[in-house]
Amino acid sequence: MSHFNKVANEWDSEGKTKMMQKLASETLKKLALSSKVDMMDFGCGTGLFGLEFIEYAKSLKGIDVSAGMLEVFDRKTDQQTEISSLKLDLEANELEDTFDLIVSSMAFHHLNTPLQVLLKLKKALRAGGKIAIVDLNEEDGSFHPDNEGMGVKHFGFSQAELSLWANKAGLSIEHSFINNIAKNGKEYKQFLAIYS
Ligand SMILES: C[S@@+](CC[C@H](N)C(=O)[O-])C[C@H]1O[C@@H](n2cnc3c(N)ncnc32)[C@H](O)[C@@H]1O
Repeated sequence: MSHFNKVANEWDSEGKTKMMQKLASETLKKLALSSKVDMMDFGCGTGLFGLEFIEYAKSLKGIDVSAGMLEVFDRKTDQQTEISSLKLDLEANELEDTFDLIVSSMAFHHLNTPLQVLLKLKKALRAGGKIAIVDLNEEDGSFHPDNEGMGVKHFGFSQAELSLWANKAGLSIEHSFINNIAKNGKEYKQFLAIYS
């Protein structure tokens, strides 16, 4: 069983909930949406990040490879017809729908080939659409207590790497740091990269 299936029912701690609320609020400030959008949350997990956007969504689709995380997502959203979920490993599959806005929080460091996934997200973007990725800035591998067991494939991402992806994908990028996490006597930064 994957790490995320095991931890799904305990995922929504107070600390994580607060962090995701802050990250979503900073992302919404930068996006400055002027009308409601059809949006997708890639690597949505239990929805802690993506569901914060619901006020701005005509529709929201949560996509994740973990059935356990999606069960929690579905329990939270089963009365809301504008919200749906899809179990999909985006590294192995293609997306069929298109969206005005794609968001993703703390999922990219779990991908083997993040640039390939960004290219798939770009294909799923409607004209004028945006992709907002939140993740860890490059770190020394000490952020997660068990990198291998937790499926961590990258120790965050540098601004240079995120800009290189933009170049390769033919997208522009707006990069900012939107949160600091103090842990193990160290400071870790979380970035927001908006690709358009
Ligand atoms: C650290 S969790 C973040 C969950 C949520 N976005 C949040 O911020 O609370 C990373 C999520 O990415 C999902 N994920 C990892 N690789 C994936 C892939 N290839 N396709 C779809 N989802 C993936 C995991 O199953 C997990 O739910």
